[in-house]
Amino acid sequence: MAIISASLLAADLSRIGEEAKSAQSSGADWLHIDIMDGRFVESISFGPKMVKTLRNTVDLPLDVHLMVMEPERLIKECVASGANYITEHYEDCPHLHRTVQLIHECGCKAGVALNPHTPVEMVKYILNELDMLLLMSVNPGFGGQRFLPLTYAKIQCFGEMCASTNRPLLQVDGGIGPHNAQHLTDVGVDVLVAGSAIFNSSDYKKAITALH
Ligand code: DX5
Ligand code: ZN
Repeated sequence: MAIISASLLAADLSRIGEEAKSAQSSGADWLHIDIMDGRFVESISFGPKMVKTLRNTVDLPLDVHLMVMEPERLIKECVASGANYITEHYEDCPHLHRTVQLIHECGCKAGVALNPHTPVEMVKYILNELDMLLLMSVNPGFGGQRFLPLTYAKIQCFGEMCASTNRPLLQVDGGIGPHNAQHLTDVGVDVLVAGSAIFNSSDYKKAITALH
């Protein structure tokens, strides 16, 4: 059964604490917090203070997805705020290996995210140092987009690459719902991020059960 990481981007932001609690009581395994700076992606969303607020609100692991330029600026604060996983993008990290080490030195688990066009091979030589690889199945920046089928070829490539190395968790983010959750789990995805499939539904428990 895949881990369901509920993406708060699609929640009712005027009641974000209650929304996070509802996701927890409805069976979400993790909370996914999208931090966006208006530069790496055009949207602006949450910052480390939101991580702290949510840390004081729920017990779930906090899965922080950084979509910002120079993500190393935010790592210490995100860890101090209670992040359990920090994932930064390959595309905005010229010294990715060093950034992964920094996350580990801060005592946090480290992930790397790849945009849809980025080959999985780009992380080949650091794969055994990662706790998680995040394949974006939409272009980052917005919720509610359609899942890109090219993701399946990348999942297969990840599986082949992991045959001879430590296997990090495989996370997929964007356009996930009951129509593709089972198939993604069958082909080896460990963590499914879901925003609109949960928070746009009228019954979170039903939605999360369907994803599980
Ligand atoms: C997009 C974000 C996602 C987003 C997913 O850039 O990284 O986490 O919330 O939203 P859905 O599940 O609606 O595609
Ligand atoms: Zn995300």
